[in-house]
Amino acid sequence: MQDFEGRVAVITGAASGIGWGMAQAFADAGMKLVMADIEVQTLEAAGAELRAAGHEVITVQTDVADPTSVQRLADAAHEAFGKVHVLCNNAGVGGATGKPGQWGVWNSPPESWQWVLGVNLMGVVHGLQSFVDRMIAHGEPGHVVNTSSVLGVWGGGNGIYGVSKHAVTALSEGLYHGLKGQQAAIGASVLMPGLVATRINTAARNRPEHLKPDGQDLPPEVMAMMAAAEKRYLENGMPPRQVGEIVLNAIREERFYVFTHPGSEKPVEERMRAIIDGQPPTPGPQMRRLAQPDGQQR
Ligand SMILES: NC(=O)c1ccc[n+]([C@@H]2O[C@H](COP(=O)([O-])OP(=O)(O)OC[C@H]3O[C@@H](n4cnc5c(N)ncnc54)[C@H](O)[C@@H]3O)[C@@H](O)[C@H]2O)c1
Repeated sequence: MQDFEGRVAVITGAASGIGWGMAQAFADAGMKLVMADIEVQTLEAAGAELRAAGHEVITVQTDVADPTSVQRLADAAHEAFGKVHVLCNNAGVGGATGKPGQWGVWNSPPESWQWVLGVNLMGVVHGLQSFVDRMIAHGEPGHVVNTSSVLGVWGGGNGIYGVSKHAVTALSEGLYHGLKGQQAAIGASVLMPGLVATRINTAARNRPEHLKPDGQDLPPEVMAMMAAAEKRYLENGMPPRQVGEIVLNAIREERFYVFTHPGSEKPVEERMRAIIDGQPPTPGPQMRRLAQPDGQQR
């Protein structure tokens, strides 16, 4: 897809972080936007900022984990603009999901599996189900971008989040081949960001009541850890707007695997080498960092 002027993009998780960075980059490329997010106040403020700068934008409060809500988003997008050309399934949640001692894949609370897979994986599935057929049917060039993570291709486990992101990578590869098989004018990419300056670590702010283990918020010591992680991300992460520009270029160049940070591909090679050589799984860089005696980042 080469031509962005006047084309329509739908972005989930558009109120903040990477989704907001994409919205800014796409708007400046001349696109009309459908911005979706669960956090209504932040969403309205973001939409108003782009409208004030002269861009054509609608905002739709959406819970990507709920297929009915995503279908409503698709209906609103088509009602407003007639067609959709770019779909970014980007909304996601991360950070700690349970009490200390409950972070293993064997003892994480079932509600945590439901919440993280519901948003990170099923949110992408719902986006594909509600949009792709109509994107193919209109016949104009288009593109789907699914946000995974480097943790969706690196080794090391990384708990429920890592499972959800590996699943998004696999799903996106299936999407790519499915679209090629149909000779659709729609391309596909999987975005695998490294550290980006966003609020992902405090995603529990959007966790539904019925998916909190025992109906309780995370304990204060965990909230403090996540606040510290958020500070580290905001201070050291790539600006989300830069990620938006990287995504725009990837769509233009029809690149499928989209890393944001140079060198991110190296741990993929290490993981594959261990698989081919019959070695134990590589610890992901995050796990290696946690294994340092002083727990410091490296
Ligand atoms: N920040 C990073 O370093 C990083 C690295 C790799 C991948 N990612 C991925 O990038 C994507 C965007 O995250 P971010 O880092 O910008 O975090 P963020 O928290 O700043 O933005 C995520 C947005 O998604 C929204 N959201 C959460 N649950 C939702 C739901 N059920 N329905 C609709 N919207 C919902 C939030 O309100 C928020 O606006 C996620 O998929 C995340 O896993 C982030």
